[in-house]
Amino acid sequence: MSEAENVDESRRHFLLVATTVVGAAGAVATAIPFLSSWQPSARAQALGGPVEADISKLQVGELMKVEWRGQAIYIVHRSQEMLDKLKDHDGMLRDPNSEESEQPAFAKNAQRALNPEYLVLIGVCTHLGCAPMAKFKVGDTDVAADWPGGFYCPCHGSKFDLSGRVLKDVPAPLNLKVPPYYFSSNTTLVIGLDKGAA
Ligand code: FES
Repeated sequence: MSEAENVDESRRHFLLVATTVVGAAGAVATAIPFLSSWQPSARAQALGGPVEADISKLQVGELMKVEWRGQAIYIVHRSQEMLDKLKDHDGMLRDPNSEESEQPAFAKNAQRALNPEYLVLIGVCTHLGCAPMAKFKVGDTDVAADWPGGFYCPCHGSKFDLSGRVLKDVPAPLNLKVPPYYFSSNTTLVIGLDKGAA
């Protein structure tokens, strides 16, 4: 190899090494912010934890709300009359046996609850996410003459019965969701964990 060829070969080797080092440094520099964006924030972790609800003062026929993961959770203390009413309007419902809805296994039935007296739902309409309103009075003509009692979504008129089951011919496609939960005492609900997981 001539001296000129030796110089060219050394220069080519230097440029190759320099380019590789700069390229690797660039990859490290871009990898760090990318990885750090995957770390969950303390707020996100806090939002995911279970919450307790004291239901000791919740009277029969009343609704209370608590927040879990930034969503409203509806808890209804149902009367025997409300529970009896669940049996007589399956023909009005899109999914009366809650086959398609999102819920823990214990809620796959007409009552959709661990203890039928207490209904626990995520208060978010399954259409576009508005907050359904409590309309518990049977036959409330503000909603419909044959209204079985339940929840009415003011945004586009979706209707759900007293187990959060969606009626036919409304925009919402699914029953309201039931979150995971369990009773830690007769008057305390823990929302965000089911009994098995707890
Ligand atoms: S968001 Fe409830 S009906 Fe559209």
